[in-house]
Amino acid sequence: MRTAGMIQAWVFTACIMASSSWAQTGDPAKLIGTKKCAMCHKKDDKGNQYGKWQSLKHSKAYEVLATAEAKAVAAKLGIDDPQSSGKCLKCHSTAYYFTETLQSEAVAVEDGVSCESCHGPGADYKKKSVMESREASIAGGMVYPAKEKSCTLCHNDSNPNWDPNRYTLPDGSKTGFDVNQAYEKVKHERPAEPAS
Ligand code: HEC
Ligand code: HEC
Ligand code: HEC
Ligand code: HEC
Repeated sequence: MRTAGMIQAWVFTACIMASSSWAQTGDPAKLIGTKKCAMCHKKDDKGNQYGKWQSLKHSKAYEVLATAEAKAVAAKLGIDDPQSSGKCLKCHSTAYYFTETLQSEAVAVEDGVSCESCHGPGADYKKKSVMESREASIAGGMVYPAKEKSCTLCHNDSNPNWDPNRYTLPDGSKTGFDVNQAYEKVKHERPAEPAS
């Protein structure tokens, strides 16, 4: 009995672990594309997350693969054209969704790293009534907080450009990725509510 109980507990824990990693990546069939998110997230008084994203490098992550720098990195790995290689697009395009093959036509490959790479595929949380509740949105697949759950899916040492000294921590030591400093460069928060 005791052994059976222990196996059950183990299976239970393993299932929780499996489902939480699924929640971080989500189902690519549920990707809806940046334009759909933009419908509700481009108003200045709410922080214009779409406009902010367009002004930041994540939206240029496909374009950067056409540069001489990208071609030099790719050549070392035997890749001719980084813009058509899944080995690069797995992290440089939401349409490939962390894999080496195209996962969705709902997101333009050219959009680079878009909303749903960080926030999760939107089909089940995009409705206004769902979005208004954080709890319902998470139940519908929204990844929250994305700051803890998303960044290191790409900002890790399997990136061929990984520079272990890219960031300097307050104590002077170096690290390849510091989520707090990185977040400051890409954040797109709503403006604080005016005091009434
Ligand atoms: C029909 C309109 C609508 C669409 C489409 C929509 N959202 Fe939202 N979203 C909202 C509303 C309303 C809120 C509530 C807060 C606010 O007013 O900004 C919200 C909040 C959020 C939040 C903050 C959640 C929180 O709990 O703080 C995130 C993240 C978000 N949306 C991401 C997205 C992404 C990514 C997409 C596309 C996949 C998307 N939204 C599509 C209306 C929408
Ligand atoms: C594991 C994810 C991952 C893979 C795979 C990947 N990249 Fe990147 N790439 C990144 C990240 C993250 C950055 C942003 C730099 C940083 O913060 O480390 C980046 C930045 C770049 C840059 C901008 C220069 C820089 O250092 O900021 C170029 C060019 C680039 N990658 C080319 C490529 C090419 C070419 C491939 C395929 C051979 C590739 N990447 C594969 C994650 C990846
Ligand atoms: C590089 C990852 C990344 C991308 C790309 C991204 N976001 Fe976010 N977003 C975050 C993080 C991190 C937060 C802070 C909350 C959290 O940790 O989940 C956030 C917060 C938000 C919020 C809540 C703002 C607030 O005041 O709390 C909204 C709304 C939102 N994002 C919408 C979008 C939309 C729409 C897009 C695409 C146009 C987008 N995001 C692209 C990572 C991202
Ligand atoms: C799907 C992969 C992916 C995810 C997830 C991701 N990034 Fe990135 N990030 C990239 C790539 C690729 C680049 C390089 C884009 C370029 O150089 O055009 C980049 C560039 C950046 C940069 C450099 C931009 C600049 O202007 O200096 C910062 C900062 C950054 N990411 C922070 C974050 C943070 C914070 C998160 C999590 C909230 C995150 N990223 C999640 C792939 C990703």
